[in-house]
Amino acid sequence: MLMSRNSNAPDNRTLIGFTNLRQARINRPLVIEKGNGIYLTDENGREYIEGTSSFYSAALGFSDPELVEAAIRQMRQLPAYASGLYRTVPAALALGEKLASMAPVSKARVAFASTGSEANDFLIKFMRFRNGHRGEPQRVKVIARALSYHGATVMTAPLGGFPGTARAFNLPMADVITVSQPDYVNNARPGEDEATFNERMLAELEQAIETAGPETVGAMILDPVSFSAGCVVPPAGYLIGVRTLLDRYGILLFDDEVITGFCRTGSMFAAQTFGMRPDCMTLAKALSAAYFPISAIVMDGDFYDGLERGSDDEGIFSHAATYGGHPVAAAVALRTIEIIEERDLLGHVRRVGPQLQRCLASLAGHPLVFNTRGVGLGGAVQLHSLTDAAGARGLAMQDAMMAEGLLLRVVKDTVNFAPPLIITEAEVDELFARFTRALAAVERAEVRP
Ligand SMILES: Cc1ncc(COP(=O)(O)O)c(C=O)c1O
Repeated sequence: MLMSRNSNAPDNRTLIGFTNLRQARINRPLVIEKGNGIYLTDENGREYIEGTSSFYSAALGFSDPELVEAAIRQMRQLPAYASGLYRTVPAALALGEKLASMAPVSKARVAFASTGSEANDFLIKFMRFRNGHRGEPQRVKVIARALSYHGATVMTAPLGGFPGTARAFNLPMADVITVSQPDYVNNARPGEDEATFNERMLAELEQAIETAGPETVGAMILDPVSFSAGCVVPPAGYLIGVRTLLDRYGILLFDDEVITGFCRTGSMFAAQTFGMRPDCMTLAKALSAAYFPISAIVMDGDFYDGLERGSDDEGIFSHAATYGGHPVAAAVALRTIEIIEERDLLGHVRRVGPQLQRCLASLAGHPLVFNTRGVGLGGAVQLHSLTDAAGARGLAMQDAMMAEGLLLRVVKDTVNFAPPLIITEAEVDELFARFTRALAAVERAEVRP
C-alpha cells in the first residue's frame, strides 16, 4: 500500500529497493518510526505486526534493551576500529571463538563482513584463491538453485535470484550454474512421489556438473530452506543426497544460513535440522538480531588451511573490509547469541513453532489457498494464482494485510511467515487472526461484481 502523494510534498530522494523506482519516488513509502517486541508503529501512529522479522532479520524483535545496552557499552569503550594489519578488537576475537564453537563444521575458522551478500561474495572469492593455490585455477564455477537468493553483488545476484535479475542488470553469468529448486509442491510431475522427485533433482544436478565439466566447478551454494523461493522446505534426503553427490566430484558445499541460522528451523542451524554437513557457512541477519550490520563466514579447517597455504605463497592474504569485525557489531552479535542461549530461544522456538505450523495447516482448506508449508518458526501460505495473472492475488493480499496491520513478505502468490523468534503463542494467534481477516477481505473483493 502506497500513500498517495501530497501535491506539496517533495519527491522521495532515497532510492528504495525491490520497488518500481518511479512509484517509490513519487509516492510516500510506509515509514516505520518505532518498534516494540514484534510490533511496529508508522509515522501516522498505525501499528503493525512484523511477521517476517523485517527481511527475516530482527530475531529478537524491535525493542530489546539488553542489545541496546550492549551497543551503548561498546560505543562508549571503543566505537570504531578496523580489523586488519595484525590489529583487531576483543569483541571480534570473542565472537570468532563463539561461532567456531557453535557451527557444525570441523576445526572452524571465522571471517567477518557486514552483510549476507558480502559474506557470500567473499566466500566465493576465498574459494577462487584457495583453488588457484591448490593448482586448480579452473575450479571457479558456482552452482545455485533457481529462485534462491544469495545477495545483491555482481557475483551473488546471478546465483539463483529472481528471474531476469542477471539479464536486467547485465551481470556476468559465465561462472554460474543454475539448477532447479527442490520445490516438490510446485515442480513435481503429475504422479511423481517425493522420493522419485528427489532422485530427479539429484540427477539434474549431476548432469549440470557433467555438462559444465566437473573440474571447473568449485562449489554449490544453497539456502537449506529457501524463503526467497516461497519457503521451500527440501524433501527428506535431498540435502544429504546433494552432499554425497558433491563429494563424489570434489565440489564444496556452501551453506547459506543467512536466514536459517540461529534457531529459525528448530535447530541452531538448518544444517543440523536436515543432517547436512557443510564445508563453509555464511551467517548474518539473526546473528546480531539485525540491530547492527554484521555477517560471518565460517570455514572448515581444510578450507581455511588452503587459504593459509595460499597466503604463504603470496606472502599476504590481500583481503580485508573496514567494517568486518566492527567492534559494536561484534559486541551486539555476541550479546545476541548470549541472549539466545540465556533465554533458551531454541526451546522457545520448539514450543511456539508447532503453534505456528498448526495455524498454517488450518488454512489448508480455504478456497484461496493452494498449499501451506513450514518448518520451525517459518512457513508459507501459497494462494491459488489467478489464471493469466500470477502474482495478482499476492499483491491484493499484501494490501489487505497492511489494512489489517500485518507486514509479511509476499513472493508472487506466496506469503512467507518468519516472525521474530520471541513471538508468544498468543501473538501467533493474533498474527493469524489478522491474516485470516485479510484473506477474507481479498475473497470478498473478488466476488464483488
Ligand atoms: C539466504 C540469503 N542469503 C543472502 C542474503 C543477502 O543478505 P544481505 O541483504 O544482508 O546482503 C539474503 C538476504 O535476504 C538471504 O536471504
